[in-house]
Amino acid sequence: MLNGKRILLIIAGGIAAYKCLELIRRLKERGATVRCILTKSGAEFVTPLSVAALSEHKVYQDLFSLTDESEIGHIRLSREADLLVVAPATANILAKMAHGIADDLATTCLMATDKPVMMAPAMNGRMWSHEANQENIQRLESRGIIRIGPNTGEMAERGEAGVGRLAEPMEILVEIENFFRFANRLNGKHVLVTSGPTYEPIDPVRFIANRSSGKQGHAIARALHRMGAATTLVSGPSAEPDPFGVNVIHVETAQQMFDACKSALPADVAVCAAAVADWRIKQPAAGKIKKNAKNKPPQLVLAENPDILAQLSKPGGQRPLLVVGFAAETENVIEQARMKRERKQCDWIVANDVSEANGGAFGTDDNAVHLITADHEDSWPRSSKVSVANKLALCIADHLDAAS
Ligand code: CTP
Repeated sequence: MLNGKRILLIIAGGIAAYKCLELIRRLKERGATVRCILTKSGAEFVTPLSVAALSEHKVYQDLFSLTDESEIGHIRLSREADLLVVAPATANILAKMAHGIADDLATTCLMATDKPVMMAPAMNGRMWSHEANQENIQRLESRGIIRIGPNTGEMAERGEAGVGRLAEPMEILVEIENFFRFANRLNGKHVLVTSGPTYEPIDPVRFIANRSSGKQGHAIARALHRMGAATTLVSGPSAEPDPFGVNVIHVETAQQMFDACKSALPADVAVCAAAVADWRIKQPAAGKIKKNAKNKPPQLVLAENPDILAQLSKPGGQRPLLVVGFAAETENVIEQARMKRERKQCDWIVANDVSEANGGAFGTDDNAVHLITADHEDSWPRSSKVSVANKLALCIADHLDAAS
């Protein structure tokens, strides 16, 4: 899987640094060439000798080392790799990366590289949730740095538990493998994704909305972009940051979402993950609706919104080669989704059970879905929305390969 791939592993100073030794072994087993940079504090946790023995390469430690620079300068070191992986990524190195500080070999390589970067954060739970760290993480993700973890569990500090554990070496390995499996598979394709809720105004201050967070749709756009697709994301109001490299069109209402989708065509693939309001207020009030003297509730007259999925699925014209819809159901999930696929004429439906009994799906980080196509149904085990997105993106790439 990783034959011929060159990985530059940057080991920063955290108690979890020992896990990197296992990661190096697994990467080497799969055929990767692994060069390592060990930061000064990283060397307090693992020895250069173990890192060198396992990676079968010299360990790079010093920006001002004459021998290092004459053998392979820091610029070459950072660019000769196919991928840079920072693990464990401590709060300190993440802060330096976020702010462009280059005061040692590791951070200088991270600034000088023109290659993709992954970070696997590891730190105490309080440090992880600290505003400064969260801002740094957001900033790095918005620049396209791929995050792996951290996991939840026991901390190095006795009796403490929380979010901040380094992802397990096998989890990091899977992400690295996925990265190479994904790369360039959708080059030259244009995909359109809808995400988030829609807001349907009642008057200038009130609106009808739903609980969609946009997490699943945004993760799909991110995964498709990482596979090389030119990606347009039409998003309703969402707290999710705009995915790096994706053309994001922000809308509020279903009608605006429909108009934005139409103008984004032609597309090879459309994935409608948005929770579009079926109804809008027929005539939103121009001014704020006041309680009337008798306190009678106002009558809200509704009109039907365009069904974007059904419209994009209509045969002929600019219909994308593959149209994928979502179905959030609370009962008879597969049966309902099957009927929805036929009714809306889309090619695939991703159905999820949003009943309370199943833990819901709105706002959560994971999802249990079924992929329903014309000739088969596949139930995927509950996993993170990011994993669901990656898996769906792979199915899409396989389908386009088979169709070409
Ligand atoms: N959808 C859409 N435009 C709409 C309504 C829904 O594009 N106006 C899309 C959603 O993005 C999703 C799929 O249709 O991909 C299913 O949406 P859902 O609300 O479950 O379907 P409905 O037709 O509204 O069916 P019902 O609410 O009766 O289950």
